[in-house]
Amino acid sequence: MLRRMSTTFTLDTATSRAHPVPEPVRRLTVPAIQKRKGGEPIVMLTAYTARMAQLLDPHCDMLLVGDSLGQVIYGLDTTVKVTLDMMCAHGAAVVRGSYRSVVVVDMPFGSYEASPQAAFASAARIMHETGAAAVKLEGGVAMAETVAFLSSRGIPVMGHVGLTPQAVNALGGYGARGKSQEEYAKIVSDAQAVAEAGAFALVIEGVVEPLARQITQSVACPTIGIGASPACDGQVLVVDDMLGMFERVPRFVKRFDDLASRIDATAKAYADAVRSREFPGPDNLYAAKG
Ligand code: KIV
Repeated sequence: MLRRMSTTFTLDTATSRAHPVPEPVRRLTVPAIQKRKGGEPIVMLTAYTARMAQLLDPHCDMLLVGDSLGQVIYGLDTTVKVTLDMMCAHGAAVVRGSYRSVVVVDMPFGSYEASPQAAFASAARIMHETGAAAVKLEGGVAMAETVAFLSSRGIPVMGHVGLTPQAVNALGGYGARGKSQEEYAKIVSDAQAVAEAGAFALVIEGVVEPLARQITQSVACPTIGIGASPACDGQVLVVDDMLGMFERVPRFVKRFDDLASRIDATAKAYADAVRSREFPGPDNLYAAKG
């Protein structure tokens, strides 16, 4: 049975899958993203739920099921506590809610660092359980062998260099990277190692601007910046930051809305209506059969 949900989605009650009306074009592919190097900027946002994926999908080229869900959805203090179970559950929801974007799922801390074989087992589980097209992992030179191992076995890998939040305990915080000459040079070699190992794209996070510009010019794959440079081949933000769900955001975030204030006002309107018995009104009630 197909039941009309809104003007833009039809809910198939047999599968709980919401289908956009009219049916959109085919999903973008990893090779299509690779071809965007130096071309039209690639638009990526994080998404963690099916409904948010439905809303973002028409506007994005890639949706990242980031392990930032640890903080954004679960209220954890770092991404270090995020599990493979969490990533698989949210990854599957985002794939169900999207039609056009390439969905990339973050490999959580502890699921890939020990060996290329361990990484393959975790990445294969993510691909099986979610239907995502690619995985993302953090790290540079030390992860190059793993990137090559996965890429050569049919698992597209997005790299992530610069500020790598899973390494917060080693880095000592979330400050911008690449300020010293030594660190600058290390991040350049990390980016080159991951790109040469076969990463199809590379997130560059929280680095001094010339560094991201230089990496973008020196690697063959598209770069996706976050706190990096407008010269990157694309940009990504954590969707809740961009929507204004949090009052305090890092310098590199632009709040395109102030959703937190609007939710606060809407929740107050609901609470007032319940307390004054204005809600539920006659339109919200079922009449008895005559
Ligand atoms: O987990 C995440 O959301 C990310 C982006 C910030 C790139 O890795």
